[in-house]
Amino acid sequence: MEFNIKSGQPQKQRTACLILGVFQGRRLSPQAKAVDEAGEKYLSGLLRRGDMEGRRGQSLLLHQVPGALAERVLLIGCGKEKKLDAPGYLTIIKNSIAALQQTGAEDAVNYLAELDFKQRDPGWRLREAVKTSLHTLYEFNELKTGDQKARRLRKLAFTVPSRRGLARAEAALREGQAIGNGIKLARDLGNRPGNICTPTYLARRATELGKGQRSLTVEVLDEAAMKKLGMGSLLSVAQGSKQPAKLITLEYKGAKKSEQPVVLVGKGVTFDTGGISLKPPAAMDEMKYDMCGAASVLGTLSAVAELALPINVVGVIPAVENMPGGRATKPGDIFTSLSGQTVEVLNTDAEGRLILCDALTYSKKFKPAVVIDIATLTGACVIALGKHATGLMSNHQPLAADLLAAAEEACDRAWQLPIWDEYQQQLHSNFADMANIGGREAGTITAACFLARFTEDYHWAHLDIAGTAWLSGRDKGATGRPVGLLTQYILNRLKR
Ligand code: BES
Ligand code: MN
Ligand code: ZN
Repeated sequence: MEFNIKSGQPQKQRTACLILGVFQGRRLSPQAKAVDEAGEKYLSGLLRRGDMEGRRGQSLLLHQVPGALAERVLLIGCGKEKKLDAPGYLTIIKNSIAALQQTGAEDAVNYLAELDFKQRDPGWRLREAVKTSLHTLYEFNELKTGDQKARRLRKLAFTVPSRRGLARAEAALREGQAIGNGIKLARDLGNRPGNICTPTYLARRATELGKGQRSLTVEVLDEAAMKKLGMGSLLSVAQGSKQPAKLITLEYKGAKKSEQPVVLVGKGVTFDTGGISLKPPAAMDEMKYDMCGAASVLGTLSAVAELALPINVVGVIPAVENMPGGRATKPGDIFTSLSGQTVEVLNTDAEGRLILCDALTYSKKFKPAVVIDIATLTGACVIALGKHATGLMSNHQPLAADLLAAAEEACDRAWQLPIWDEYQQQLHSNFADMANIGGREAGTITAACFLARFTEDYHWAHLDIAGTAWLSGRDKGATGRPVGLLTQYILNRLKR
């Protein structure tokens, strides 16, 4: 898809499709009004006859509209003008792209990025319009045979009210595209099934990402190297599978060597059967998404590298497959982690924390400014927050606050849960330093409390994306979250 920025009057645009907003109560947006006035009140006449109320979700496709040079005019319902906010704006953009896709237009000029509302500036509106367009146009059909309907839409322009805003708009557009591409990468990786997307495959894709970028170097450790380091906890998860584990490290250097990096650690369980503590069969296919934390790290690094941001970022991805098998970990087995602490594995389905703890200990070597891990860690998080918010836990409140602000700004929301010491008791083991499960109560928090025991040396935050990384049912598919949140956090660090 080719994006560009335009300015100028809507009635003068020569395009296959002109997209304009109508507010609830049949109120034309200023841009629609301009066309209306140029065309002897054709649009307001239509509204008066009751063809469109302006509710959100409504759309009306018109041909040969008097006064407009465009082949088509697509009116999009924007809801109540006074109630327009950021999430509502994104819905309107999404609706406009979905409706546009139903037309035969090969190009379009979309005036909806000019919809004005408090809180957000024009740069944000443009960037989010591009991100949302890419998100809406996304499809995953590389594994379907037969006729793929060729998409007609090739060029999409958004507008700014005056030429003075063009330079900043171009920058916002590039940002939206880079983040959008990162989100697409994360979604593609998530959607690929477990028989394709293995630890070895993730390592290969990471290496390829590095090949395209001089500032990005990638290193992959195999099981022998991990064993030598002492990653007993990570390897205990991999030992039931025929797929060898990989520890993938990506180092992006956009700033001085001495500048401490942001380290992102992503859970990369390419399939989670539960191991010997086997999962029930319902929806088990969705456990191919158990590497979405890893995918979000790759997506974020791809966006950071595409934008050539002046910052240092490291990605660490422990990648394993969690399978039952003759050599698999048994409940009660005890392993020594890279930190030296021992862990009694009471449930082999609590495997995410077992690979993350070693990756988190390993991360110390990068002398991080902060470490953020991203993981589809607990079903309990889905129960607590549903699919709308990522669970956030941290040992450093300023970092938590920064992440919450970035989440809000990127409309990729998170919500904080406490990790008070009182919860630590639940991880007591009679035979090792800790157990890998903490009972039914507060499952999301006790998982984070487990990780907290390995992150005492630096500022750390944990994002539980079990509810947000993918959708189920008819809409089943990876969301690419929280690439938006993470890139926003990195962009914000550059501003201060
Ligand atoms: N990958 C799962 C978490 C998960 C489950 C995410 C369902 C999204 C939907 C994780 O490895 C897991 O199995 N966690 C267990 C932990 C329990 C055994 C303490 C869980 O949440 O049931
Ligand atoms: Mn599991
Ligand atoms: Zn898992």
